[in-house]
Amino acid sequence: MGIESKICHIYLLILILSLEIHLSVASNAISTGQSLTGNQTITSEGGMYELGFFKPGNSLNYYLGIWYKQVSVQTLVWVANRDKPFFNTSSELTLSEDGNLLLSNQFNNPIWSTNSSSSLLNTTVAVLLDNGNFVLRNVSNSSSIIWQSFYYPTDTLLFNGRVGRNKITGEVQLLSSWTNLENPSPGMFTLEIDPEGSSQYYLVWNKSQRYWTSGLWNGQTFANIPELTTKYFSDIEFVSNERETYFTYSYQDTSLISRFVLDISGQIRQYKWLNNSQEWVLMWSRPNNPCDAFSVCGSFGNCSTKFSPICRCLHGFEPSSPKDWNLSDWSGGCVRKTPLRCGDKRQGDRFQMMPNMQWPTNFQKYKVQSIKECQSACLTNCSCSAYSYIVECLIWGGGLRNLKELSAGDVNGGDIFIRLAASELPQTTNSKKIFNLAILAVGVVGLGLFGIIVVRIWRCRERRFIAPSWAARVPSGPFKYRELQIATKNFSEKLGAGSFGSVFKGTLSDSTPVAVKMLEGSRQGEKEFRAEVITIGRIQHVNLVRLRGFCSESAKRLLVYDHMPNGSLDKHLFRKDSQLEWKVRYQVALGIAKGLSYLHEKCRECIIHCDIKPENILLDVDFCPKVADFGLSKLFGRHFSRVLTTMRGTRGYLAPEWISGLPITSKADVYSYGMMLLEIVSGRRNLDQPKDGNFEFFPICVARRLHNGEEILSLLDYKLEGDADLEELKRACIVACWCIQDDEKNRPSMGHIVQFLEGIYELSTPPIPLDLQCLVDNLGYQETSGSSSQIYSNT
Ligand SMILES: *[C@@H]1O[C@H](CO)[C@@H](O)[C@H](O)[C@H]1NC(C)=O
Ligand SMILES: *[C@@H]1O[C@H](CO)[C@@H](O)[C@H](O)[C@H]1NC(C)=O
Ligand SMILES: *[C@@H]1O[C@H](CO)[C@@H](O)[C@H](O)[C@H]1NC(C)=O
Ligand SMILES: *[C@@H]1O[C@H](CO)[C@@H](O)[C@H](O)[C@H]1NC(C)=O
Ligand SMILES: *[C@@H]1O[C@H](CO)[C@@H](O)[C@H](O)[C@H]1NC(C)=O
Ligand SMILES: *[C@@H]1O[C@H](CO)[C@@H](O)[C@H](O)[C@H]1NC(C)=O
Ligand SMILES: *[C@@H]1O[C@H](CO)[C@@H](O)[C@H](O)[C@H]1NC(C)=O
Ligand SMILES: *[C@@H]1O[C@H](CO)[C@@H](O)[C@H](O)[C@H]1NC(C)=O
Ligand SMILES: *[C@@H]1O[C@H](CO)[C@@H](O)[C@H](O)[C@H]1NC(C)=O
Ligand SMILES: *[C@@H]1O[C@H](CO)[C@@H](O)[C@H](O)[C@H]1NC(C)=O
Ligand SMILES: *[C@@H]1O[C@H](CO)[C@@H](O)[C@H](O)[C@H]1NC(C)=O
Repeated sequence: MGIESKICHIYLLILILSLEIHLSVASNAISTGQSLTGNQTITSEGGMYELGFFKPGNSLNYYLGIWYKQVSVQTLVWVANRDKPFFNTSSELTLSEDGNLLLSNQFNNPIWSTNSSSSLLNTTVAVLLDNGNFVLRNVSNSSSIIWQSFYYPTDTLLFNGRVGRNKITGEVQLLSSWTNLENPSPGMFTLEIDPEGSSQYYLVWNKSQRYWTSGLWNGQTFANIPELTTKYFSDIEFVSNERETYFTYSYQDTSLISRFVLDISGQIRQYKWLNNSQEWVLMWSRPNNPCDAFSVCGSFGNCSTKFSPICRCLHGFEPSSPKDWNLSDWSGGCVRKTPLRCGDKRQGDRFQMMPNMQWPTNFQKYKVQSIKECQSACLTNCSCSAYSYIVECLIWGGGLRNLKELSAGDVNGGDIFIRLAASELPQTTNSKKIFNLAILAVGVVGLGLFGIIVVRIWRCRERRFIAPSWAARVPSGPFKYRELQIATKNFSEKLGAGSFGSVFKGTLSDSTPVAVKMLEGSRQGEKEFRAEVITIGRIQHVNLVRLRGFCSESAKRLLVYDHMPNGSLDKHLFRKDSQLEWKVRYQVALGIAKGLSYLHEKCRECIIHCDIKPENILLDVDFCPKVADFGLSKLFGRHFSRVLTTMRGTRGYLAPEWISGLPITSKADVYSYGMMLLEIVSGRRNLDQPKDGNFEFFPICVARRLHNGEEILSLLDYKLEGDADLEELKRACIVACWCIQDDEKNRPSMGHIVQFLEGIYELSTPPIPLDLQCLVDNLGYQETSGSSSQIYSNT
């Protein structure tokens, strides 16, 4: 071999090396004849995205994909060969002379291709754009696009990407979830446009079962995703013309890294990358409750947001594939640990009761008269896996999907009895005994509660719920009137005169301190009263005052609550020597929002409080706020609104719809919350203003300053001497001004308020509520006097 050929070799080597370096460092494109292999990548011009081969997690499979270059956590936004992995990085991505982009494995077998071709050779180029779109285009005309990855989305919709349908070819762009954390092949869930042609999107399970809709496009956004508005994004479009129909959106600030993804769990989620903390934070998700994704936990799974991960197997079951379960794919569900012994009389099957569950919909009704007959109807049918008897007998066969705790708005639900092999349950001779025992236990616990001191110390910032044990589900009342008379020393120590009656301090015989509220003007019958009180008593949350029991004897109606040593918020807030520092105020605001959000959205029957004001916020030892007096609207029925609107001390907090007569929704609480939040900021009542001619109503002043971008620190309570976190102060002001918008539709939900205060959800600058000034002028600042007892005697 001659020297020349050696030199030739070296040149070639240099050429190849420089090509590699060129590819992995600078280039954003692949030209004809070039290829990508091994760990070579191309990067979009602005450095936002990178394309190359990747291996998800601990998987052994390789894929071609696009990810964020600036995000430290590997986050894929697009995958080419989703369900055809390759196993060796000697594979190659090549752009052929005729303009076909081809991925082939180490044996040169094609794995994936764009199937494109051009009649003129060497006229195409593949470019990774800075919006994450990978396009194949004419080399001399950048707007002549032959193929683009935005038309083949995987689980992520990027800004300017699209989900829709080509009306001519019938091609659809849909999002489909990954199968699991390590497998990008299409999973069970898809987001697709209504095939019937309306302007809404559905989330669909297994290509057949719809479980959520976006609602129709209203020109600005989709009815069920109010977050998707130009408030948060610069451009949102639903395009529908003769050729195609699709949805796309964008954001002007290109430094914002945000993604819209259909998660493995069947929720669509919008995340935002926080560069400071190097993590993705959730902006919003749908369905709101992850347990509402169809069959997210598969058969015999138990879904609850209290679990992490959200899926667990029912008692007596185990994951059908622990490996998938580990990778956040729960759709395979659970299988029995012990097979059923159907038919075997002696060793037969038993039932376990699960209280308060939402029922799967695939039941059959049986015409039998008692729970016993219903049970035996199930027991004698080998394919029956559960029954329930409330008013009628329902029987389920096969796998039970969508088992979850009953929550607000759910209709079909109650106790359900799951069939298990006898050996999975504690040994007893027959299942009826278990049932009787359960009833007995409930009775004993219920009676015993008087004597047991239950001291629970709830850490304020932790969001914990009282375990739904039998004892906690029913308030420990009824109390005897005489008992309460003794406990309160004949109602001698008055804590305050709240709405609907006075409150007295008391000590139960077990020395538990309590607050006893004597209701005035309740006109409900005994039975309704009890029913409502039991409902209210079941509502328990760390930010709600716990109802311990009640008394109902002839006309006497009393409610017994946990006693809160620090009293009500107004006492601390409006004092001249207020000690409430900003940190505490912010936590109080957040806690109240959490409590209200629970009332509105999380508990079984949505409850509107209707009377949010500082007097109704109590503080425990740790200054953890607890909302008091919720559920009273239920106890007072239709008299409630009349009492409320004429009541002293409530006016400054009442939403305009109370006065205008529009229907009252949970957004009325949002309004009152906003007014109160402003008072938390200023340390003064909004209505308690100096009466010289040129003052401005405080809420309007806040809205105006935000609107004009003026400084806001001077809005802070002067007692704090400027000692506050500016960012938090701004958040509090922004959210408060959104809360007091005239139109209830513009007010955020309590859930969003929580997210906003926690900093994981953004709100834009609020407009100035126009009607507010008029309303205030009409009401006048001088509160009319008049005691509530007067009002009652008039009705
Ligand atoms: C690419 O892979 C080669 C060998 O496979 C390795 O030597 C090199 O360090 C890798 N480069 C990068 C940037 O990871
Ligand atoms: C990939 O395949 C080539 C050709 O078969 C082989 O030489 C190489 O060792 C393989 N690489 C890996 C990482 O398996
Ligand atoms: C290319 O064609 C093959 C075979 O028809 C098809 O399976 C594949 O999905 C096509 N690729 C793209 C990117 O459309
Ligand atoms: C296309 O480009 C390749 C290499 O870049 C070259 O070998 C080939 O001759 C070109 N073909 C035409 C028709 O120009
Ligand atoms: C690419 O664009 C050039 C200039 O616009 C045009 O002459 C050429 O025909 C185009 N090539 C293809 C394959 O469309
Ligand atoms: C580039 O391509 C676009 C779209 O195919 C076409 O409308 C335009 O006329 C082309 N421009 C040139 C200079 O050929
Ligand atoms: C999903 O649908 C297919 C076809 O309709 C069916 O064969 C399959 O059993 C379904 N998967 C599950 C988990 O039900
Ligand atoms: C993100 O933070 C890193 C340091 O943590 C910094 O180097 C980088 O410039 C930041 N990126 C952006 C877009 O702010
Ligand atoms: C299902 O989950 C709920 C919590 O949401 C729990 O109370 C219940 O005991 C669980 N049921 C079973 C049978 O695991
Ligand atoms: C699941 O993950 C845990 C920890 O991440 C690990 O210890 C366990 O072995 C995994 N189980 C399976 C079946 O992969
Ligand atoms: C047994 O239960 C299954 C599932 O509920 C039902 O389809 C079937 O008709 C039942 N058989 C009898 C004999 O009732």
